[in-house]
Amino acid sequence: MYPRLEIDANKLKHNAEHLLKSCQENGIRDCMLVTKVLAGYRPLVRRLATFGFSHLADSRIENLIRFQAVPIPKVLLRLPMPTEVSRVVRYADYSLQSEILTIKATEKAAARLGKTHGVILMFDVGDLREGLFFREDPGPLVQTVLDSPHLCLAGIGTNLTCYGGIVPDEENLGRLIFIKQQIESRFSLRIPLISGGNSSSVHLFRTGRLPKEVNSLRIGEAFFLGRETAFGHLLPGMNPDAFILKAEIIEVKVKPSYPIGNIGMNSFGAKPDIEDRGMMNRAILAIGRQDVEPGDLIPLDAGVRIVGASSDHLIVDLGNRTGKPGDVLAFGLNYPGLLRVMTSRYVKKRLK
Ligand SMILES: Cc1ncc(COP(=O)(O)O)c(C=O)c1O
Repeated sequence: MYPRLEIDANKLKHNAEHLLKSCQENGIRDCMLVTKVLAGYRPLVRRLATFGFSHLADSRIENLIRFQAVPIPKVLLRLPMPTEVSRVVRYADYSLQSEILTIKATEKAAARLGKTHGVILMFDVGDLREGLFFREDPGPLVQTVLDSPHLCLAGIGTNLTCYGGIVPDEENLGRLIFIKQQIESRFSLRIPLISGGNSSSVHLFRTGRLPKEVNSLRIGEAFFLGRETAFGHLLPGMNPDAFILKAEIIEVKVKPSYPIGNIGMNSFGAKPDIEDRGMMNRAILAIGRQDVEPGDLIPLDAGVRIVGASSDHLIVDLGNRTGKPGDVLAFGLNYPGLLRVMTSRYVKKRLK
């Protein structure tokens, strides 16, 4: 049945071994596996949880709820909504936090459930997404956690290269280390977990420039697609092709490449910008923008080029290839593409 995403668990196992070895060599004791790209796909997560990662981390509590039976500590990656804290405490062992109001609500929920919940306080060192800005006083946030008998200060962390595209370096990660030292001396405590970012921090491995105090990372893309995300380089020795999308041809026709008539809007409300390449050997595949953006696909069949897509149709130029309805074409995916494909219930998943 198509469209279908084929997942090679052996390639992922190899990626895990390679990544976890590099982590170990660079002082990363806790490598959290970020599962959000899997959109709650349990069969794969059960396997991944045996690969040696310290935690499963996901941005959606719904996904962590689906992974409840998988015996590994769980982290909610996105700051909790105040209205979801009961579910967060029930189904996650840790959450990233940056708001006093939410921390207090989490304490209340933990007290109600008679549980202790771990808090990782987030600090923004320049990327300008979540976290207390590094120039602010961390005291009130820390004090709120310490005043909460059902919460423990499990760690501090930062996130980079998400909104602002800021690359982790010694200077911005140094800000996190400075915050750690400030908190530890002011409150006479030791912070167990120093979470120094995501797949964009992996580029620091090569040069040994990851500050030695960073002992944890939260990794998605580098594991799934073998790519660091500071500069987008493939990581040597890792598999970039554990996920292959296959889709079926429903029409093949030779037609002009340039539409005939006055051009208004396409089905997504945009004015199409189409290049005239003369007559074209075109195929339509039964998959569309409801499942994946065409720009996130990499054709794997020689000579095939993506032309465009509407919500349920992907148009490709077959070039000199022959093709007929029922033939199947294969595509690699970038990370946003993989996220969308995993989220689409119309794309079947096959785990090998
Ligand atoms: C807070 C946080 N940490 C880590 C990650 C993982 O990022 P990456 O896939 O680049 O490793 C994400 C995003 O998925 C995130 O939002």
